[in-house]
Amino acid sequence: MAPTESGHHLRVVDSRTEKGYLIPIHDNFVRAKDLGAITIPDTEDQNLSQKLTILDNGYENTACMSSSVTHIDGQRGRIEYRGTPIQDLFHNNDFEDVLHLLIWSKLPSAAEKKSMLAAISAAANPPKSVMDTVAAFPRESEPYPMLLAGLSAFVAIDKTSSITRHQHKPMFHNNLEVADQAILRTIGYLSSVIALVYCHKRNKAFTKPAPGGSLVGNLLLSMGFVDPKTGKGADPKIEACLNKLWILYADHEMTNSTAGFLHAASTLQDPVSCVISGIVCGYGPLHGGAIDLAYEALEKIKHPRFVPTYIDMVKAKKARLFGYGHRIYKTRDPRLGLIEELIEENKEAVASNPLLKVAFAIDKQANEDPYFVSRNLKANADLLGCFLYSALGFEKDIIIAMISLSRVPGGLAHWRETLSEPIKLWRPLQIYSGKKPTPLADPRGTMTTSSSDEVTEKAASAIQAKEADANGGRQKGPKTPLKLRMYLWARSALAA
Ligand SMILES: CC(C)(COP(=O)(O)OP(=O)(O)OC[C@H]1O[C@@H](n2cnc3c(N)ncnc32)[C@H](O)[C@@H]1OP(=O)(O)O)[C@@H](O)C(=O)NCCC(=O)NCCS
Repeated sequence: MAPTESGHHLRVVDSRTEKGYLIPIHDNFVRAKDLGAITIPDTEDQNLSQKLTILDNGYENTACMSSSVTHIDGQRGRIEYRGTPIQDLFHNNDFEDVLHLLIWSKLPSAAEKKSMLAAISAAANPPKSVMDTVAAFPRESEPYPMLLAGLSAFVAIDKTSSITRHQHKPMFHNNLEVADQAILRTIGYLSSVIALVYCHKRNKAFTKPAPGGSLVGNLLLSMGFVDPKTGKGADPKIEACLNKLWILYADHEMTNSTAGFLHAASTLQDPVSCVISGIVCGYGPLHGGAIDLAYEALEKIKHPRFVPTYIDMVKAKKARLFGYGHRIYKTRDPRLGLIEELIEENKEAVASNPLLKVAFAIDKQANEDPYFVSRNLKANADLLGCFLYSALGFEKDIIIAMISLSRVPGGLAHWRETLSEPIKLWRPLQIYSGKKPTPLADPRGTMTTSSSDEVTEKAASAIQAKEADANGGRQKGPKTPLKLRMYLWARSALAA
């Protein structure tokens, strides 16, 4: 048994075989592959064996990669990006610094920031095909499919993206220069599509991003949030606020959407397609999409006096309290205090939202009620952040899209770190719990009732033999096993 860094092992005895195993413990994890050394003989063939497998529905206790990007301590309520507490970054840096830190492991120099922004802003200038794609949607469409379509239109014209699927050599692995350019373009594309979607839905003109302008500033400019004093450039107040808020959303280690991104990336897809995969996950009701549902619930509740009735419904499992609960945090989400600082700075605008009173009433009750307390269900940072978005003048429909841009550094940072690792396709296993192979009771049943090709072929031959008998010994159907199966399938499909 190879020594581990920790020098520790699990001592395991399999009661089925009475065999003992030493499973190495590395830095408080064991490798699923090492558990695969625990085997039992196959019941049908003594030359085969069955490996022990881990079943973890919903990945409640399974890590799928090791990463040096972000550390979350859910018990103590701490987040560090590349080893720096987010509180320090929040108080001393802006979103672009953090984006660079996450993806390239260091804060940018002035020159690095300048060239990064030049590349992002160039990519954020959409070509006609992308503009036309977004404009083809009815204005009342949800932003979600529009975002996916707009990004797909970028995939279609991005040469590197297209080549990715047509060359035998991996495009980005151990080819960080190409990957870095693709990363910058991907950020620009996403920013551009969000602004296009926003403008199209409101029948507003899209403003071209300023070359070399800041990422947040250019997004605001393209969306039409201009400085109210000069009418030119991005609104500085909103830009300053988002530059802080987005630090808090820039990464959150292995979230569902980051995993969705990386799952696609493990097939060697291009990063824009991987962002599409991440966005698909992000918009689901149990993930980023929860924000919409939380908001809708607040609108339905309307007034704090109706909160107790709603909470009773949640406790009776007739409704879920969207915007509450988190897989990782068992204590207060450390981002909440920092969002409260931003809310304090924009206090008047935030307080004017009547839904905030409803949200506070829910929070008060949830913090005291044993149902929520015993399950550690607390408001999540996305929900609170929404009140800031509203106060800054963003309507509900575009908030999740904007959050996806604030989260894209995280997905890309995780992707980039996989590019120097050996290529590994993400392919989970399942525990098969269906029927054991059984011979067909009725050989005239459809193909799908049998799980064994052999049995199916026998059944097909039996049918053919019968038909040949009826035909005076002449075989009408095909002879090879594959053709026999297709023949049988076609017969049953025609009979259906
Ligand atoms: C985020 C979330 C998916 C995490 O789920 P999870 O870690 O798998 O936790 P579970 O769904 O197993 O929930 C554990 C218990 O808390 C309850 N619970 C979890 N979140 C709840 C919520 N938001 N409202 C009411 N009950 C909730 C579950 O019903 C379950 O109760 P039980 O023990 O009586 O069966 C879950 O909390 C949720 O659905 N939240 C609402 C959606 C949301 O806001 N998502 C955004 C996350 S960033």
